[in-house]
Amino acid sequence: MNIVLTGFMASGKTEISKILAKKLDYKLIDTDECIERNEGTTINELFEKYGEEYFRSLEHEVVKKAAKEDRAVISTGGGVVLNRANIDALRQNGIIINLAPDFETIRERIERAAATRPLMKNSSIEEIRERFIMRKAFYENCDKKVVVTNSKTPGEHAEEIIKIMSEYL
Ligand code: S3P
Repeated sequence: MNIVLTGFMASGKTEISKILAKKLDYKLIDTDECIERNEGTTINELFEKYGEEYFRSLEHEVVKKAAKEDRAVISTGGGVVLNRANIDALRQNGIIINLAPDFETIRERIERAAATRPLMKNSSIEEIRERFIMRKAFYENCDKKVVVTNSKTPGEHAEEIIKIMSEYL
């Protein structure tokens, strides 16, 4: 059984997944990192040179492979939920946990988060907010939800996920 983390950009997936993998002694798979390693370049450069659609096809291939793992924490890119086939694959051997911040929580993180994220870097705050709202229904379609706030630490969020997962592991 895998633990899959989804959520909007800067919702804390990377940090929380590292803590989870360590605590549970699970393998850690970060789909963005896999893409960067496979392609030998950055997400920013992939978006700039080849566009979002090309990135999404690379992402789908990485997701399909990760979904076949077992005892893995899979940290996904914020847009993985947009493709139903990604969710179907990840659900076959995993519980999909959505890290759900409110927009204010994200807003406070944008300055630090934007540099490595093409969809933040090149967008106004209003455009980021619109994307956040547009994505909501996709995130709500995940299996479980963990509310993320800046007043809790990643470790506390990880503990909550372990509690949720104790029913399945
Ligand atoms: C994206 C999120 C990014 C990365 C890419 C696109 C998105 O990952 O996959 O920049 O569409 O939300 P993070 O969620 O880790 O920022």
